[in-house]
Amino acid sequence: MTPPGAKPLRAVFLAHTAAPSGAELATLRLVSAMPAGRTAVVYTEDGPMLRRMAERGIETRVVRNDFDSRAMTIDKAGVGSLLRGGLGLLRLGWRLGATMRELGATVLVAGSSKAMLMGAVAARRAGIPLVWHVHDRISAEYFGQWLATAVRLLGWLAVDGYIANSRGTLASLYTWRRRALVAYPGVEYRSVSEEPESGRREQRPAAETVVVVVGRLAPWKGQDLFLRALADVRNLPREVFLVGGTFFDEQDYRRELEVRATALDLPVIFTGHVEDPEPYLHEADILVHCSVLPEPFGQVVVEGMRAGCAVIATRPGGPEEIVEPGVNGLLVDAGERARLTHALDTLIADQELRTKLAAAARVRARDFDVAESARQVTEFLTTVPGKRWRHG
Ligand code: GLC
Repeated sequence: MTPPGAKPLRAVFLAHTAAPSGAELATLRLVSAMPAGRTAVVYTEDGPMLRRMAERGIETRVVRNDFDSRAMTIDKAGVGSLLRGGLGLLRLGWRLGATMRELGATVLVAGSSKAMLMGAVAARRAGIPLVWHVHDRISAEYFGQWLATAVRLLGWLAVDGYIANSRGTLASLYTWRRRALVAYPGVEYRSVSEEPESGRREQRPAAETVVVVVGRLAPWKGQDLFLRALADVRNLPREVFLVGGTFFDEQDYRRELEVRATALDLPVIFTGHVEDPEPYLHEADILVHCSVLPEPFGQVVVEGMRAGCAVIATRPGGPEEIVEPGVNGLLVDAGERARLTHALDTLIADQELRTKLAAAARVRARDFDVAESARQVTEFLTTVPGKRWRHG
């Protein structure tokens, strides 16, 4: 794969957070499936991801941030703090450039827009190409029109290539004359012969159903809408697990959800963050994904399908690229509470439909094997050309 005379790949991934959020977990699975010794991950803060990477034998570094990155929280920041934050990112980028050299990086892979900004400086200092691994839609819904345009433009100026987690995410970027790859985040199949359905019971009758919602508790992930939709179903499920923690100042949201669940007398259990949600997925009959904004990809949808749940997910966004509605799951329009209630009613009542959707879902989930994504990403990173003005 390596062209003759070229240095063998050493891809260094850069992350601005070490919290176990979706993008960081996707990176963990991806680098675990890439060739050993050809990757390393640099974080700009300490956090649980360092241990999780180390457990898998992946080399990590922390290059600490000496500015308050919360000043960069887009919706709260004024121009002054954005500017201060921006300068801090650039300073950190300079130091990261030295780390890239120490690690012998041949390509820098930035896992967020903040990492892309720092990476622009770091990659230039180290004389290596910069690839932006985009896990978020760079769109007005998330950033506001203004900032979305600025981030797209800065990205286009800074990067040599893009890896997007879905076609939808890719479409939210400017990619003119840049190499680009869509690599879906994959799930891990322990061995080729692993039967994903092993250990799973049959779908339960209506009154016995168990529902699971997995994901960080955050307003745009729609758990509040889910609770309100659930309150209107004809037959409540027996149990509902809300699996997920709060990482980024979202504790108030969790409290609101708990108050809501109690007020509506719903059979909801909040598990908090769990390292491995799989046991809940195996226990559940139905997995609900309920993001109220377009989901960039939606790993939990694939995880639920692989575990043999009948899934409901929202569109537009990544789930549209995963689920074929009526065949291996159901799709509802994001933010439409009554439609979500209707989909829940349909699935809870119809055990046979759930069984059919879940069986097809397990087959579909096979298309999202992380080994295949890792192969594509490795190939892409080995061949991405640097900008001509770069040395090294
Ligand atoms: C981000 C996105 C999510 C995606 C994950 C992995 O967390 O919000 O949709 O599944 O990254 O790419």
